[in-house]
Amino acid sequence: MISEAAIARVAAREAEHFRSVNPRAFAHRAAATGWFQSVPFHWMKDWPSPVPIVAASAKDATLTSIDGQIYDDFCLGDTASLFGHSPPALAAALAKQASEGLSYMLPTERGAALSTRLAAMFGFPQWQVTTTASEANRAVIRWCRGINGRAKILTFNGAYHGAVDDAFVDLKDDAPAMRASLIGQVHDLRDTTTVVEFNDEQALTAVLRGGDIACVLAEPVMTNVGMVRDAPGFLQTLRRLCDETGTLLVFDETHSISSGYGGHGAVHGPTPDMMVIGKSIGGGVPCAVYGFSETVAARMAALNMSRPSGHSGIGTTLSANALAITAMDTMLVEVITPAAYGHMLRGAARLVAGLEEEIAGAGLDWHVAQVGARVEFLTCPTPPRNGNEAKAAMHPELEAAIHLFLANRGILLAPFHNMMLVSPVTSEDQIDRLVGAFADCVRALKE
Ligand SMILES: Cc1ncc(COP(=O)(O)O)c(C=O)c1O
Repeated sequence: MISEAAIARVAAREAEHFRSVNPRAFAHRAAATGWFQSVPFHWMKDWPSPVPIVAASAKDATLTSIDGQIYDDFCLGDTASLFGHSPPALAAALAKQASEGLSYMLPTERGAALSTRLAAMFGFPQWQVTTTASEANRAVIRWCRGINGRAKILTFNGAYHGAVDDAFVDLKDDAPAMRASLIGQVHDLRDTTTVVEFNDEQALTAVLRGGDIACVLAEPVMTNVGMVRDAPGFLQTLRRLCDETGTLLVFDETHSISSGYGGHGAVHGPTPDMMVIGKSIGGGVPCAVYGFSETVAARMAALNMSRPSGHSGIGTTLSANALAITAMDTMLVEVITPAAYGHMLRGAARLVAGLEEEIAGAGLDWHVAQVGARVEFLTCPTPPRNGNEAKAAMHPELEAAIHLFLANRGILLAPFHNMMLVSPVTSEDQIDRLVGAFADCVRALKE
C-alpha cells in the first residue's frame, strides 16, 4: 500500500529539509574530526538523519539541539533516561555527591540503604553493582558457568544483551551462526552458546533436557528485534524446564523494566534466579545491578571459597562508585515510584490508542506492540512470534523515512526500529503531537 517510490520520495524530501534547518549540525561534523568518523562513540552515527542531531541539553522529555530545534523526546537516551532527563532530585543529589568524592572503592552507608531498596522493589535479597548492563550480563554468565560447572549458555535468536560476546549467536537457515556484524571476533561462539527461537517450546525442551546449559539469558519480552511478546505460557514453561534441568534462569530486564513497578518478572512472573537491570536505574549515570536469590547467593559464596584469591574476571575499578550509588539510590527513592509508573502506563495507553486509530484510519496492515511504557509500531500485520519473523518484518528504508519525517516535526524516536518510550514527565500534549505527526507521515507516504 506504501510504494518504495513513495518511501524514497519522502526520505529525499525530508533529508533536504533536515539540511536546511540544521546548519550547525553540519558545521559540527567538520569541527569534530578528532573523533573517529566525527562522533565520540560510533553508535551515534546510527540515526536516519544525514548527520546526527547535535544535542545542546535535555530536560524532562524534551531535548534541544544546537540548531535550536526542540524535540519531544521518545528516545530518552535509548532507555537510559526512561524516567526523564535530569530529574531535579537526581540533579541535586549528584551535585552534592560531586563535592564529597566520586569513587572510593569502599562501601558506604548509602550503598547499604540502596541494597534494601533494590530488594524491596525487585524481590531479590542479594545484589551486585556494575558499570553497564553489558558488564552485568557478562558477570552473570560467568557466575552461572562457575556455580553450575557447565560451559554452555542459551539465548534466544535475535536477542541483544549488550556487548556480551556469548550472546552474539543467531539462527540462520535454522543453524546457529555468529552475528555477521561483529568486529574482531576470533573464537567460535557456537561452541559455548546455544540458540533457539523465542516461543519455541519444543526446541527449548530438547536443548535444556541435554543437561549441559549453565543458564538461559533472556529478556522476558524481546525488545531489540522489534518487539516479540511471550506466547501465553511460554515463560512458565521456560521456568519449569530450568527447574527440571538445573539450569539457571536469568532475566535481563534492562528494557522490560518498562513493564511496571519491579519489572516484568514482578508484574507478570515468573521469577527468575537472577535478574539484570541497567541503563535507567541510574537515570543516565553509567551503572547497572544484578540481583539473585538466597540459593544462588549461597552457591556463589561456596564457589568463592573454593577458588584461590585473585582476579575473578568480574567487576571493574569504577563498579559501585559513589556517584553511581547516589544516582541509583536517589532514583529508587524519588523517581522510580509506583506513581511514576502510573503516569507512564496511562501515557503509553494513550499513545497505543492514538497510533492504532491512525493505522486503522489509513487502512494500513501495521500494528502496535507494547511492553508497559515501551511502545512500538511494526509495519507488518501480525505480531512476530520469534526473532526470524521479526527480522523478516523489518523495513529499514521505511523506518528511516518515518524517523526523519518525525524528527523534522520535532519528535525523536529511538534510532533502532520504531521504539517510543513514555516517561513520568511525558505530557499528553507530547503524545498527541507524536500521534498527529505520525498521521501526517502516513498521509505523505500514501500520496
Ligand atoms: C536488553 C538489554 N540488555 C543489555 C543492554 C546493554 O546495555 P549497555 O549498552 O548500557 O551496557 C542493552 C542495550 O541496549 C539491552 O537492550
